[in-house]
Amino acid sequence: MKEYQKYLSVETLMGPNSLRLLEELLSRFPPVLSKDDIVLDLGCGKGLTTLAITRETPAKAYACDLWITAEENTQRFAQWGIGDRAVAFHEDANDLHFSKHLFQALISVDAYHYFAGTRGFFDKKMLPLLKDGAEILIAIPGMKAAYTGQAEALLSDWLGNDAYMFKSMTEWRDIIGTHERIDRVDIWEMDCFESAWNDWFSTEHEFALSDKPFFETLIRPYTCFIGIRIRLK
Ligand SMILES: C[S@@+](CC[C@H](N)C(=O)[O-])C[C@H]1O[C@@H](n2cnc3c(N)ncnc32)[C@H](O)[C@@H]1O
Repeated sequence: MKEYQKYLSVETLMGPNSLRLLEELLSRFPPVLSKDDIVLDLGCGKGLTTLAITRETPAKAYACDLWITAEENTQRFAQWGIGDRAVAFHEDANDLHFSKHLFQALISVDAYHYFAGTRGFFDKKMLPLLKDGAEILIAIPGMKAAYTGQAEALLSDWLGNDAYMFKSMTEWRDIIGTHERIDRVDIWEMDCFESAWNDWFSTEHEFALSDKPFFETLIRPYTCFIGIRIRLK
């Protein structure tokens, strides 16, 4: 994490530290990748995770986001010296235009809950893009197991109409479902919750300042980060 400190700022972070979330995903389930492989970084935001993917693996990264333009991320990747390994795309995850079976891995940090919370999304929108044997690593905020199905009742003061996006591990397992191409699905409550949130608060980003009053009352008691690893046959 130390080597990435200089990249973390109020300009690049968009929520709890995405690099801590990615670090936990990669250390728990290190994907086996070669320099010819392409990783899809879906909902990459300002590209911090894309930077780490190009540093921590030999693969290329396709960095795809909706709110951040490809021009902005392309410029940042050039400044960071990863322009030859990271390609930026401005696309909606619901309507991606990549070739079938292009990616050896899909990584999505703090973004998948915005677009993938319905049954069938993974099968219809993600699976066709992935090679056989692909690894999928996802980190998302969600509800602790004991509060399954209670996101809107418990979190609306903090999240307003977005509270429905917070689902528990059992809800995500059900949403992902089963498919003949899925070998196994592992889902766990992530360890880096405190550190990821503390890094976000220390940016003093205006959204971090508005999250902070809810940390002790709602965020820590009811929510967690959920790690999901899907391995394809
Ligand atoms: C909280 S930000 C996290 C960004 C980045 N992954 C990080 O952790 O720093 C959520 C990201 O999800 C992306 N996103 C939301 N809906 C999307 C969609 N339908 N397609 C692609 N990206 C989407 C947004 O553009 C935004 O950058």
